[in-house]
Amino acid sequence: MKIAIINGPNLNLLGKREPEVYGNETFEAYFELLQKEFKTIDLIYFQSNHEGDLIDKIHEVGFDFDGIVLNAGAYTHTSIAIADAVSAVETPVIEVHISNVFKREQFRHQSYISPVAKGTIGGFGLQSYKLAISYFLNK
Ligand code: DQA
Repeated sequence: MKIAIINGPNLNLLGKREPEVYGNETFEAYFELLQKEFKTIDLIYFQSNHEGDLIDKIHEVGFDFDGIVLNAGAYTHTSIAIADAVSAVETPVIEVHISNVFKREQFRHQSYISPVAKGTIGGFGLQSYKLAISYFLNK
């Protein structure tokens, strides 16, 4: 089974970025834990701050991989182009957020990704990613 984790803008700063919202752990450290936990899964991780690069990666893995775990960061709330990429590919996409966006500012309550995603998981810190991978593993 092949699963891609795709992280959008500013998520390269996890561990340093607003730790009261996003925690103290880097994504690289968490990704190592995920690889240890899900040994049977071929897991890849990609992060970019650029909308087009995220779209290219969704296209690249979206006809071949079994699942995509996508945290589009702030593009969640703005990007019709990323939502179109999610619709365009065959691989199911789970939308993930570290924080509970519904507890936060109103502008974070709107997601262009949710209507085209298989489902959405948010508010569980980095564990949100693990929950999404578990869905693909157990389905
Ligand atoms: C986020 C929530 C977004 O609103 C924000 O822009 C992010 C991170 C989250 O994982 O909680 O960059 O997607």
